[in-house]
Amino acid sequence: MEIKRIFLIGFMGSGKSTLGRRLKTELGWDFIDLDDYFEMRYQTTIKQYFAENGEKAFREAERKIITEVATREKTIIATGGGAPCYFDNIQVMNQHGLTIYIKLSVETLAARLSSPKQVRPLIAGKSGNELLNYIGEKLSEREPFYDQAQVIADGDILGVDGFVRIIQASGQLMK
Ligand code: S3P
Repeated sequence: MEIKRIFLIGFMGSGKSTLGRRLKTELGWDFIDLDDYFEMRYQTTIKQYFAENGEKAFREAERKIITEVATREKTIIATGGGAPCYFDNIQVMNQHGLTIYIKLSVETLAARLSSPKQVRPLIAGKSGNELLNYIGEKLSEREPFYDQAQVIADGDILGVDGFVRIIQASGQLMK
């Protein structure tokens, strides 16, 4: 079946946006970073949205924009780390496009998230062992959802180039 859009999924810090931007160049498709889209769509920052409305409201608002972008064609969507794990979001993504899980070890994620480039409310203020333990627990909660992706690839082994090749070989990408 023709692939019209690609959803990149995985934990915070797994490199979804970096891969998404690279795929935009390689495939000549559009790229949407769901966190940026969220902030533009709701005219706020994720940090502020969490602070004012809490996580439950964030998940509902996030779900709404997933259904919005799920109709875009020739588009790569980097989703937020929690996006596939709430409601039927993973099913919606699987039905509407190719889902790819960038799988990384707890240690690699902790190393990447210990010097973050962006504000992430869920890990704000955490470092060292506290961060490592949080990632370990959250990842085991989330993996049953991430594991429903159509393609699961080991980001500790595969670089961005490897992911690009897998995606190009994954099926019929819309021309
Ligand atoms: C979240 C991940 C973030 C962002 C929000 C919540 C999560 O996105 O959506 O802070 O629940 O894992 P990134 O995975 O792009 O950091």
